[in-house]
Amino acid sequence: METGESNMPPLEVGTRVLCRWRDSKYHPVKVIERRRVQSNPKEYEYYVHYTEFNRRLDEWVKLEQLDLDSVETVVDEKVEDKITSLKMTRHQKRKIDETHVEGHEELDAASLREHEEFTKVKNIVTIELGRYEIETWYFSPFPPEYTDCSKLYFCEFCLNFMKRKEQLQRHMRKCHLKHPPGDEIYRCGTLSMFEVDGKKNKVYGQNICYLAKLFLDHKTLYYDVDLFLFYILCECDDRGCHMVGYFSKEKHSEESYNLACILTLPPYQRKGYGKFLIAFSYELSKKENKVGTPERPLSDLGLLSYRGYWTRVLLDILKKHKGNISIKELSDMTAIKAEDILQTLQSLELIQYRKGQHVICADPKVLDRHLKAAGRGGLDVDVSKLIWTPYKEQS
Ligand code: ACO
Ligand code: ZN
Repeated sequence: METGESNMPPLEVGTRVLCRWRDSKYHPVKVIERRRVQSNPKEYEYYVHYTEFNRRLDEWVKLEQLDLDSVETVVDEKVEDKITSLKMTRHQKRKIDETHVEGHEELDAASLREHEEFTKVKNIVTIELGRYEIETWYFSPFPPEYTDCSKLYFCEFCLNFMKRKEQLQRHMRKCHLKHPPGDEIYRCGTLSMFEVDGKKNKVYGQNICYLAKLFLDHKTLYYDVDLFLFYILCECDDRGCHMVGYFSKEKHSEESYNLACILTLPPYQRKGYGKFLIAFSYELSKKENKVGTPERPLSDLGLLSYRGYWTRVLLDILKKHKGNISIKELSDMTAIKAEDILQTLQSLELIQYRKGQHVICADPKVLDRHLKAAGRGGLDVDVSKLIWTPYKEQS
């Protein structure tokens, strides 16, 4: 197959074609953007979206990765996606389920298109943070003076970011922080949680939003960080407290949100920290005597983590509980909002509707099966180590 021809007209944005991915197999992509190759301006490279995968896997590819025989001209999008999914083997499907779970269903088509147009190409490709170099997932609206570079260097303690390594090194000699600003409200072994008030630490709040947006697709950036508290999870050693992840929370939420954004930094993912942060957010709600729910829309990974958490917490109670229990009682015990409980139990087919009422049907064998499928429990929150009082506006 001739692919390297530089006198061939470049592919148009919007073209659908097959592209060789990191698994060495060909997958359908849509061309999102193109640019000239720096070392050879006669040739183009293409920014592609793999239509089977989440947008975090969008990337620049060289022409030779594309199977030009598969270029499609005008295709009805819906029909094409259907054909693709029919063509996939079961093994492919399972693999894809791990990287791609619907996370868009709560945005309408017009806002989704607008969002995707504005954020179509990742600007910052990698960041350095503490001892990790991390590949980013999505576009983040850093101030214009940072948009001409593809790598940023973060101070892991104050989260200030810089364009050059030497600037970071100079900063590290001057920056005396060894942990996030704010109050340490939890410590258990090497794990600590800090509460940072966005009003008292505005720059920190803004920095963490810029950083988080690199890994969160459908979140607007709140510049008004005054209205939020940030809960930073750290692994501590003799060099300091190193950020692992965080969640933000509105000081006052009309919609009973107890969490706005949640992030585990990629090098720490799939180790149970996400479920720890979720559990922590519900422990804070219990202390406030409120029920809570995460802000919508949830991302694909957010939904998976929440579903896992809700399933485990609710089924653990149902397993131990003798006799009937209502959704209201479950909600009082867990601080999980009744709608989320109902939806979780419904999706597990544990709810029947009898005489105008929802009744929970909990066969122990079925519970065990679901619990097994819900994955690991994550790191536990030891509530006795939480020293915290709910936020009160200081007059
Ligand atoms: N593939 C498949 N399943 C996954 C994956 C993955 N890559 N990542 C997490 N999960 C599922 C699994 O069921 C996992 O449990 P298991 O490991 O026992 O099977 C469960 O989610 C949670 O695992 P944790 O290790 O507790 O969570 P983690 O520390 O990885 O953090 C989080 C989860 C915070 C969602 C992380 O993936 C992340 O930061 N993603 C990017 C930002 C994001 O999408 N945040 C949520 C947005 S919604 C909102 O903010 C309200
Ligand atoms: Zn610093």
